[in-house]
Amino acid sequence: MAREEILTNVKGVKDILPAKAMAWRLVEAVAQDIFELYNFREVRTPIFERTEVFSRSIGETTDIVSKEMYTFTDRGGESLTLRPEGTASVVRSYIEHKMYNPPGITKLFYFGPMFRAERPQAGRFRQFHQIGAEIFGSSDPAVDAELVIMLMDFFSELKVTGLKIVLNSLGCPECRPSYKEALLKFLKERETELCDNCRTRIDMNPLRALDCKSTLCKKTTEDAPTLDNYLCGECKDHFNGMRRPLLDLELPVIVDPKLVRGLDYYSRTAFEITSENLGAQNAVAGGGRYDKLVERLGGPPTPAIGFAIGMERLIDLVDIDSTMHTTANVPDVFMLLMNDEANEQAFEIAHRLRSFGYKVDRSFDGGNMKRQMKKADRSGARFALILGDEEILSQTATLRDMVTGVQKKAALNDLPEVLDDLLGEQENVDPN
Ligand code: HAM
Repeated sequence: MAREEILTNVKGVKDILPAKAMAWRLVEAVAQDIFELYNFREVRTPIFERTEVFSRSIGETTDIVSKEMYTFTDRGGESLTLRPEGTASVVRSYIEHKMYNPPGITKLFYFGPMFRAERPQAGRFRQFHQIGAEIFGSSDPAVDAELVIMLMDFFSELKVTGLKIVLNSLGCPECRPSYKEALLKFLKERETELCDNCRTRIDMNPLRALDCKSTLCKKTTEDAPTLDNYLCGECKDHFNGMRRPLLDLELPVIVDPKLVRGLDYYSRTAFEITSENLGAQNAVAGGGRYDKLVERLGGPPTPAIGFAIGMERLIDLVDIDSTMHTTANVPDVFMLLMNDEANEQAFEIAHRLRSFGYKVDRSFDGGNMKRQMKKADRSGARFALILGDEEILSQTATLRDMVTGVQKKAALNDLPEVLDDLLGEQENVDPN
């Protein structure tokens, strides 16, 4: 009989298999711990929203909105979109739930999958995951600095090295128009040296050409005018004010006056954290200020700033075993069940050990001692717990240390305490 066709993943999406899922959980736990030290609280928003939430926030001329959104019409005829990023959703939620009342600063963080129909390549997926944080309610440059410091604290807790903080100021509605004009003039003079996409959008948004992925546009914009020469006094002061604490802490800051980011909502601070240990897609995180976005989505004027970390890229940079002091995710005990009675009693014994906090796995499908011992070995368990005829008669279990091969009998009633002693002894030998 012909075999059924094997179904595989959609292009650009990935399974997170058990060996890696442990790393993901640890990284998320560290983020939660660090962000809570800075008084952030978690928010969970749906993975789809009305399309307008994104098109109005991120900007119609961006690659994300014009080419990369997973948009569909639902049964009621409404246009919905799988979120390509978290900020727009969090802003929608902030306004909808009037989080601006009582007035003050609101600090939120989130985890979750995002969706962009980009051309898949190393470090670029169609479903990827972000850990993000957003601060609403202050335009103080100290907020910008504290946010970047928190992000770097997080990376340093994970022992990720070789990072750079690439910074720029994108100006404000006062000073950006004159820069846009100068840039547009520069680009118009070189219109034939731009990609088709940029040629059609430069009138609406010339800044997009600076962030275009095509090599043609990259080359053409090499000598384009830069924002630093057009910033107003207030934006300059703000930029210096946010940069100073980072320099005082000797964080690895570099200013890149061409950094514009791929989303339109930014004003003033924009930044990316890049790694020398990633390939072409070297930004492990990106963020910036979006002082006008809350208003643009119908809320009261509320300055805000945030960042998002790309989980897939981060996981590539974290050496989980050596940084997290974790042993592999293996059971403490693997049960070998040699007869029917042992199989019956196994449920109660395993249940009791688990209630004491031991990770317990067991053999299924029977088999002789050799076969079951092989399974115990493959599981990586520290102890094999053998229940055979003799053990059942005497209501004991044989515990075999899978590293040393030493065996010891213990009364079933005393198992938790005996394991406590044995695992304690092991920890004394091996501090990891
Ligand atoms: P973003 O730069 O578009 O910003 O994404 C942030 C990070 O998500 C990137 O630096 C990268 O690590 C990861 N990332 C983005 N696209 C992909 C992809 N296709 N595959 C894998 N990883 C990816 C934002 O999303 C903004 N919402 C950040 C923000 C928060 N700004 C203010 N608040």
